[in-house]
Order: sequence, then C-alpha cells, then structure tokens
Amino acid sequence: MTGHAHSRRTVLTTGATVAGAALGTAALAACSGPGTDGTPPTSVPKGTRIARLDDLSVGSSKAVTTPDGRKAIISRPAKDEVAMFSAVCTHQGCTVKPEGEQLHCPCHNSLFDPYTGEVRGGPADEPLPRIDVEVRGNDIVTA
Ligand code: FES
Repeated sequence: MTGHAHSRRTVLTTGATVAGAALGTAALAACSGPGTDGTPPTSVPKGTRIARLDDLSVGSSKAVTTPDGRKAIISRPAKDEVAMFSAVCTHQGCTVKPEGEQLHCPCHNSLFDPYTGEVRGGPADEPLPRIDVEVRGNDIVTA
C-alpha cells in the first residue's frame, strides 16, 4: 500500500455501533465525498443496507449494486472491517470484478487492490472511488 492521499478509509465497528441501535435511522442523506474522478460514487442515504456481513467471508470481495443502481464492490479485509468502492474502472469506465485477491477490469486488464481501491496495474492510473460503509450488527450500511 502507499502513503497516498487516498489512504484506506474503511470504516470499522467493533461494537461501537450497537446492533439494534436504530438501524437506518441516520436520517440525513449524506453523500459520500466525490470520487477521484469527481463523480460522487453514490447518493444513497446514510445507513442504507448494502449487504449482510455474513454473506461476505473474511478476505473476500463481492460485486453489488447500490440502491441507487450503481455497480460497486464490497470487500472484507478483516472480521470487523469492510470497504466499498465504485466498480467503474477509472481508465475507461468498464466494470471491474473481484478476481482472486484483486479487482480486475476485463477491458484492458487494470488491477486494483480490493481493500484500498488503489491501482495495482494499469492502464488505469487512478484508484477506484471509495464509498463509505460501516458494519452495524450483521449489516453493511452506507456511512
Ligand atoms: S476500462 Fe478498465 S482497464 Fe480500460
């Protein structure tokens, strides 16, 4: 990993957010910050469930569609840690997919780190835009 400005900002919970404590009550629509390409990766309200934690084994990644219809990737680098990124390749916009221990773009073979979104191999030269998520109980929700 690099000490790049796009440092890993996965969001963790280890009991800080108690299951059952108002799941989905974060009322304000909090868009994630703009992606590296200047495009907001998602505009779903904070607290929106993306997936169940049980459906994502530790060390794995999975393709998902956000409630606003965008293709994304969620990854679980550790038991209580998740990360989410836009699945839109920063090279020319194809959809990246989990492949082994990386994310692969089938169009021109760019590779990305599934836990940070950083480029592992070009031609893409920008990381995948991050979407803030957190674990609440057994749910992965937007943060
Ligand atoms: S569009 Fe992904 S590598 Fe070209």
